[in-house]
Amino acid sequence: MDQEEQNKLKKAAGIKAAQLIENGMVAGLGTGSTVRYFVDELGRRVKEEGLSFTGVTTSVRTKEQAEGYGIKIVDVDDVESIDLTVDGADEVDKDFNGIKGGGAALLWEKIVATNSKKIVWIVDQSKVVDTIGKFPLPVEVIPFGAGHVIKTFEAKGYKPVLRLDDSGTPVRTDEKNFVVDLHLEKIEHPQELADDLIHTVGVVEHGLFLNMVNTVIVGAEGEPKVLTNPNK
Ligand code: 5RP
Repeated sequence: MDQEEQNKLKKAAGIKAAQLIENGMVAGLGTGSTVRYFVDELGRRVKEEGLSFTGVTTSVRTKEQAEGYGIKIVDVDDVESIDLTVDGADEVDKDFNGIKGGGAALLWEKIVATNSKKIVWIVDQSKVVDTIGKFPLPVEVIPFGAGHVIKTFEAKGYKPVLRLDDSGTPVRTDEKNFVVDLHLEKIEHPQELADDLIHTVGVVEHGLFLNMVNTVIVGAEGEPKVLTNPNK
């Protein structure tokens, strides 16, 4: 699939998801290029349909985009809970286990997701896979002692790579942490891996989102497809 086609599918999924946001809701707004289309459509609905809701964002980038449309954004601690969060994903399998964090927003994304009554992911069809792990698994790590965390991952065969920006400087998350990407190729036992990662001192969070999502809207040929998680 070329970039243009992929963007078309992302946009279709984003527009469909924007129909789920209703007046008076507290909505979680994810991060990434697919979510950008979703927020653009919400901006259109705010302007043309008078849609009114409160947003909680998973990154500074999304906050800035949403506020540009006049959407009211509050802190996650200013709401009791979030009615519905719409976010992107890097991979999702048939058990609704996914990888997130390609955009380095995994920590805020997981906090917002954990405090949401319902989670919807919007992806293009290339993200739906048999086994997750081809996409390098992002892990958010505190800068202090990060070199030792990387050595620990190397010893375990996790093939860690510190994420750098175009100028060769370590990427910093919105919490000023580093991102280490694990080039695992296949994750056969995601829960075991998640448990191991979260118990590694220096790791703040990892990008495994296991059986968290309720619905996945997949941008596909023709109309977007809706996949419903039977275990939620
Ligand atoms: C950011 C994320 C994104 O949702 C994920 O990387 C998908 O991004 P895109 O929609 O650009 O493909 O997890 O941390």
